[in-house]
Amino acid sequence: MKVIAFLGSPRRDGNTELLLKEAIKAIEESGLSVQTFVLNELDILPCQNCGGCDDTGTCIYEDDDMSQIYDAIRTADRIILSSPVFFFSVSAQAKLMIDRCQCMWIEKYILKKPIPEGNHGRKGLLIMVGGMKKDIGIQCGDTTAKAFFRTISVPEHKTLGYTSVDEKGAILKHPTAMKEAYEAGKELVKT
Ligand SMILES: Cc1cc2nc3c(=O)[nH]c(=O)nc-3n(C[C@H](O)[C@H](O)[C@H](O)COP(=O)(O)O)c2cc1C
Repeated sequence: MKVIAFLGSPRRDGNTELLLKEAIKAIEESGLSVQTFVLNELDILPCQNCGGCDDTGTCIYEDDDMSQIYDAIRTADRIILSSPVFFFSVSAQAKLMIDRCQCMWIEKYILKKPIPEGNHGRKGLLIMVGGMKKDIGIQCGDTTAKAFFRTISVPEHKTLGYTSVDEKGAILKHPTAMKEAYEAGKELVKT
């Protein structure tokens, strides 16, 4: 079973990464490895809505880091998206990658070629952390993540969202978050 993860926070060792690493720890303890993409460190150009993928499902950009991400998305059985809440949604780093999946939207919905299910089905996990008490940012992020997951032929995903977690590392003081991230990782790869 192939597992990939996207870190959408620019703050290394911040709340999102701490949760992601806890989920990954559980997956690795199940005997699997996880390929993690640190989106802030990658070269990803924004979608231009140029129509270049309309007939082919292939993006006009061939030389940036989305090439490796497209390959990874196609061949993964489990996909984790993690992001802080930024202005009531996912971070720009996460959204940049998601928008570049427009060519996969064309491929699935216009060219009618969804990514095959593989032997283990395709499942997702969304991890989000926001500093505010309100959970509207998590809700909006979840809606964006749902569009992303369905586009890349992931029909179901679980969402772990935490509010009122702002300072770097504050998630460690949350009564249940780290445990829940670990359990979500275990559950994600259960066969
Ligand atoms: C640009 C920016 C925008 C933010 N917008 C929101 C927001 O709309 N809602 C919210 O709950 N928190 C917001 N926050 C707070 C972060 O979500 C919070 O600090 C989170 O713990 C950061 O996670 P990280 O440590 O993984 O980066 C924002 C932070 C930044 C830097």
